[in-house]
Amino acid sequence: MNHTALQPDTREVIRQAESFITACYRELEITEDERDRRLADIREEMQRTGTYKHSGEELAHGARMAWRHNSRCIGRLFWHSLDVIDARGAETAEEVAAALLHHMKQANNGGRIRPVITVFRSDEEQGRALRIWNHQLIRYAGYPGNGEHPRTGDPASDEFTAVCLKLGWQGTGGDFDLLPLVISIGAEEPRCFPIPPGLVQEVPLSHPEIPQFTELGLRWYSVPIVSDMCLEIGGIRYPAAPFNGWYMETEIGSRNFGDTDRYNRLPAVADLLGLDRSTNTSLWKDRALLELNRAVLYSFKQAGVSIVDHHTAADQFIRFQEQEKQQGREVSGKWGWLIPPMSPSSTPIWNDNKLRDLQLSPRFVYRKQQAELGQRAAAEAEAEGCPFHQSMKSD
Ligand code: ARG
Repeated sequence: MNHTALQPDTREVIRQAESFITACYRELEITEDERDRRLADIREEMQRTGTYKHSGEELAHGARMAWRHNSRCIGRLFWHSLDVIDARGAETAEEVAAALLHHMKQANNGGRIRPVITVFRSDEEQGRALRIWNHQLIRYAGYPGNGEHPRTGDPASDEFTAVCLKLGWQGTGGDFDLLPLVISIGAEEPRCFPIPPGLVQEVPLSHPEIPQFTELGLRWYSVPIVSDMCLEIGGIRYPAAPFNGWYMETEIGSRNFGDTDRYNRLPAVADLLGLDRSTNTSLWKDRALLELNRAVLYSFKQAGVSIVDHHTAADQFIRFQEQEKQQGREVSGKWGWLIPPMSPSSTPIWNDNKLRDLQLSPRFVYRKQQAELGQRAAAEAEAEGCPFHQSMKSD
């Protein structure tokens, strides 16, 4: 075919569309005739408008393929069960906020977590770029503290919390304040939408054998909904496409509470367990991690909220690899992301030295949201010394 009269990026989008439609229609067992008709339509639409619109079926299967291709995800065995909500019709910030609240309810499903993605429109409408500023739809605020007040909350949220405060949102200053949704359309001011009380299910942490564990006052939310990645399908980018699965316990027990630059609770847990923190050889960190992870699994189970342990998740990943092999597809993977952060050598992924990051498409890519949004916040905050701006300089 002759693409020579087209813009280079138009040609590139057509190339990617061809490759996606071919793979997608083959997997969905759609006839080659129908595929060829669709490809002709896409080429025509591209030449006329500079873009093309996915059908609902293409969008749904494309999003599922993007999950299947995500080289950092250990939970991909279930890629086929992803619920895809087509929210490309949402126009205003209010409509977007309503769709996000709907996503949270659909995903939480009374504790039986369902994997869901909500896809908002792509950027083709000039000057109307739709952005979700949150890293995850549900996350706890972070307050750096000062001479008088100790730091509180999740340090990973410090910058974003400062943005929310600047937009007029108010938190309690505690360890587990739910952040509001922040949405912008084009050059309009971003708007804050607090999540209505009662909508987010949270799990207070307790331990199967240690009653005093509750005194630590730890809790976590039920569903991780990543909202700062861009979904790319057949040359079209969807910068607002929040998605979720269910938690693996180490994400909360090892990383969110264990990391020193997150909640950093291993010393408190070790003290509760009466461990000797004066020497590494007591393995107090390892023992604290273990009991913290057990508490996460136990508490989620008690609350009736879906969660997977890292051994089961690793076994499921092996099944995913076998399943993909049977389908004649290669699995893309990043070893360092797929091994769990606790006892990795006790899982079968440990010995897999063949994993390679294949950059398959459709895919999820980082949106560089912080840099992009930071520049905007920076322009405003220049005179005021906004903490968001300060930390953007290093990006
Ligand atoms: N690790 C992130 C967190 O602890 C969540 C990332 C997505 N996790 C998932 N199980 N789908 O909040």
